[in-house]
Amino acid sequence: MTTIKAVRIHNFDGIDQIRYEDIPCPEPGPDEVLIRVYAAGVNPVDWQLTQGINQEFLQRTLPTVPGFEVAGVVEKTGSAVTTLAPGDAVYGHVDFRYDGSFAEYMVSAEDRLVPKPTNLDYVEAAAVPVAALAAWTALFDPEGINLKAGQTVLITAAAGGVGTFAVQFAKWAGARVIATGSAHSRDFLLDLGADVFIDYHTQSLDAVGLIDAALDAVGEQTQLDCLAAIRPAGVLASLVGEQWGEPTLRPDVKKFVVHGGFYPQQLADITPLLESGEVRPIISQVFPLSAVKDALALSSSGHVRGKIVLSVDGQ
Ligand SMILES: NC(=O)c1ccc[n+]([C@@H]2O[C@H](COP(=O)([O-])OP(=O)(O)OC[C@H]3O[C@@H](n4cnc5c(N)ncnc54)[C@H](OP(=O)(O)O)[C@@H]3O)[C@@H](O)[C@H]2O)c1
Repeated sequence: MTTIKAVRIHNFDGIDQIRYEDIPCPEPGPDEVLIRVYAAGVNPVDWQLTQGINQEFLQRTLPTVPGFEVAGVVEKTGSAVTTLAPGDAVYGHVDFRYDGSFAEYMVSAEDRLVPKPTNLDYVEAAAVPVAALAAWTALFDPEGINLKAGQTVLITAAAGGVGTFAVQFAKWAGARVIATGSAHSRDFLLDLGADVFIDYHTQSLDAVGLIDAALDAVGEQTQLDCLAAIRPAGVLASLVGEQWGEPTLRPDVKKFVVHGGFYPQQLADITPLLESGEVRPIISQVFPLSAVKDALALSSSGHVRGKIVLSVDGQ
């Protein structure tokens, strides 16, 4: 039996307990493909999974391989696969039910993958799916912010994985963007496309005036402050669940929770923006797969700029 290197969670006792080990290479079913993983993006959901957070939603059986986004090459296709062939360079968002991308090979449903942007290398491509799809869904889903040119949108944690895509998408859509971050991210966020920068350590959101919408990735008091700043009939999109306490608070504001049930078609819609250079992934650090604990510890600090990526095959 062929074995591969993989990262696995054997219990929910935290990052220190995960193992980098040999496991059997998975086999694709009829409508699945085997991917040779070249790079895997790291997201907060990965270190959260080591603590069993979101388990009621993810329903993972132990041991399980983390990693919710992938870039690599199709190695083998199932008998019913029609859109992909061995050798195709792909990227995609991992189905929650599947073992993930922190491994040399992984199985994916055919319909979770789209062609990798031609101008991005594998590490860059692997940084896109989760954060970009979350930002895209929050900003452009008709049930969400449904952002239009000329509107003002507030983006919290704008220097993070989701925020860096959200700022660029909102700018591309013609919106006025207010971004929150620490003072050291000011110039970075203004260069990325923000029109107004708010240092969340020293400035209150009262200062932003009435806004059309907010995309909140922080929660708690920040989310309440976002809600207070939104105009009547405006929209709050939350990446971190319903943190507005009293359900009756601001009934005149539409509230939308991003749940992570993303569609490959949206990634295909995002690909041209990456290929034209209008939007780019921001990568702060790349770790080898074997250094996954360091990567997850850094992610769990909550103060990463852009994305962390695991390079799986020395890419
Ligand atoms: N629902 C979904 O489908 C979905 C999808 C993706 C992510 N998420 C969730 O969304 C959240 C953000 O994800 P992410 O990948 O963007 O996280 P991330 O990359 O770890 O975010 C790090 C960024 O957050 C900033 N930050 C931390 N506290 C802040 C505060 N109080 N105000 C403003 N900025 C603050 C940090 O800036 P400084 O260093 O300047 O402090 C840093 O740049 C996480 O909780 C994640 O689990 C949900």
